[in-house]
Amino acid sequence: MRLFIGIPLPVEVVNELYSIAKPLSSEFSGFRWSAPESWHITLQFLGSTSQEAHTCVTAKLREIRSPAIQVRLGGFDSFVRSGVFLAGVVVTPGLEALQQRVSAATAPCGFEPEARPYHPHITLARSKREGNPKQLRAITSRVARTPFQPQFLAQEFVLYESFTGGERSRYEIRERFPLVAA
Ligand code: 2AM
Repeated sequence: MRLFIGIPLPVEVVNELYSIAKPLSSEFSGFRWSAPESWHITLQFLGSTSQEAHTCVTAKLREIRSPAIQVRLGGFDSFVRSGVFLAGVVVTPGLEALQQRVSAATAPCGFEPEARPYHPHITLARSKREGNPKQLRAITSRVARTPFQPQFLAQEFVLYESFTGGERSRYEIRERFPLVAA
């Protein structure tokens, strides 16, 4: 199974984001738009995972004791090389600490912590064509002035199973892990 760990968005944030993304998705058809119900902030991508590693990860994640964290979204951006249009997420100390705790928890189960700096985001659309920098710039500049800086208190993180191969990836929640308010 293909697994990853992330933070789901509350419905109010999904709705706010949808009101911005929906008109863009009608206008920019050269992109595959992700389904609002799949929007999340990845903490760690685990990839293809054996049953044994799944059991190990679940047990380790249950041991995490972490306060609820304030998550701040901020503006729109793109990963030009991979053709991704995204909503940015601010790397606050609380979010970074949670990401590190999650990585430390999964390491004994055989998962290497990510070597690259943590760059949290919400993937909204992927280019159907390789790269597509011109269209990516066009979308990003269309929303550059749109006010979008919601905050929310994340009271849980989640283990997702990802199903790829269809028109759009589908994610199912395997387990929820509560974050307890400090
Ligand atoms: P993305 O949205 O930037 O592609 C499920 O696929 C989640 O895991 C998505 O948030 C995705 O990030 C992330 N993901 C997929 N493959 C990945 C990889 N090889 N390394 C890091 N994150 C990955």
